[in-house]
Amino acid sequence: MRLLTPLKTESLTLRNRVVLAPLVRARCDDERAPTPIMGEYYAQRASAGLLITEGTHVSPYSATRKTAAGHHTDRQNEAWKHVVSRVHEAGGVIFQQLYHVGRKAISESLPGGALPVAPSAIAANGGIPTPNGLLPFPTPRALESDEIRGVIAEFHKAVRYAAKAGFDGVELAASSGFLIEQFLKDGTNLRTDAYGGTLEKRARFLLEIADGAAEIIGPDRIGVRLTPHFRADGIEDSDTIATYTYVSKELSRRGLAYLHVQEGTGRDDNPRLPLHLRQLDRKIMIGPSGDEPFLAPLFRQHFSGPLILNGNYDARSAEQVVADGTADAVSFGRMYISNPDLVDRFRLNAQLAEPDTATYYSGGAKGYTDYPTLTA
Ligand SMILES: Cc1cc2nc3c(=O)[nH]c(=O)nc-3n(C[C@H](O)[C@H](O)[C@H](O)COP(=O)(O)O)c2cc1C
Repeated sequence: MRLLTPLKTESLTLRNRVVLAPLVRARCDDERAPTPIMGEYYAQRASAGLLITEGTHVSPYSATRKTAAGHHTDRQNEAWKHVVSRVHEAGGVIFQQLYHVGRKAISESLPGGALPVAPSAIAANGGIPTPNGLLPFPTPRALESDEIRGVIAEFHKAVRYAAKAGFDGVELAASSGFLIEQFLKDGTNLRTDAYGGTLEKRARFLLEIADGAAEIIGPDRIGVRLTPHFRADGIEDSDTIATYTYVSKELSRRGLAYLHVQEGTGRDDNPRLPLHLRQLDRKIMIGPSGDEPFLAPLFRQHFSGPLILNGNYDARSAEQVVADGTADAVSFGRMYISNPDLVDRFRLNAQLAEPDTATYYSGGAKGYTDYPTLTA
């Protein structure tokens, strides 16, 4: 297969295998509703085979940056309809990434200054950058057993809203140390009730969210993002292979739209990493380190649907993993920030513009909708 050939899934036809990776860009208003420039931004990138929105909070109790996106109110829903229709008018296919950040919220942004919630009361390393410096993540409050159902219901409410807004599907972020991953990994889940204690119980939170979402929009409209090697905030799992084998098999049985795995690049000297990934520059260290294996083959083996890979790919390495069958598609994050016509540039082997990191979360059109296309 070639990167620029269509990909057909159960329910979708993607015009190529280039995917816009989810990117928080903090351009919403103060009620976390999308602003009109966001419709413009996504429409500019609609030539991707699939667009995945920025991580979008499913609950007021999941909050980070003030202007990061949410989808839990009618007002937000109205504004998302505009974004979706802009993308559809441009011929694009768009999924909404949904997340609850759990312990990675900050009390200052939560209703009544509440403590963030998590499976267990273990703080994440690091914090949220603010104009006044880094605001450290507090020690969260462990969710009571009878509260968990309510959080799962918040995900399902967001899925209903996404369907109402016209999204082609949703991507559940079981990744990047967010709440679903906090349940999944045993370093952050010390529970002994129905949602912790064994691998099956740790995965239950994800699987119940996926099952309920499937009833709402259909399993073939649900993608799941995984970051098996993510450790940036101190999250750990004692048996990555067992955890992700089980998760892949369970998700495969459900016939989901795709798995989206960010395992980018690891260390230069990791002999297990495919050569084409070792040769790239390493800005995002989220891949396997030490003697950890590259897990894409494991996902291929146990998950029968489409596999999207992410993390530090360029046109050449993406072409390679699609050609050799390691992946069905590849998503691009930073390159899509500065190259709205990334597909054309790949097709023409044209030069790529570098993203300006200072405007990643700065608000406004600058560094957002003003990156030129080749023909602009
Ligand atoms: C500005 C920025 C915002 C991001 N926001 C999200 C997000 O909302 N959800 C998510 O799962 N990953 C997020 N990521 C990670 C990207 O989706 C992607 O995995 C990462 O940039 C590596 O891919 P790349 O090498 O193609 O950039 C973000 C990355 C950047 C640079």
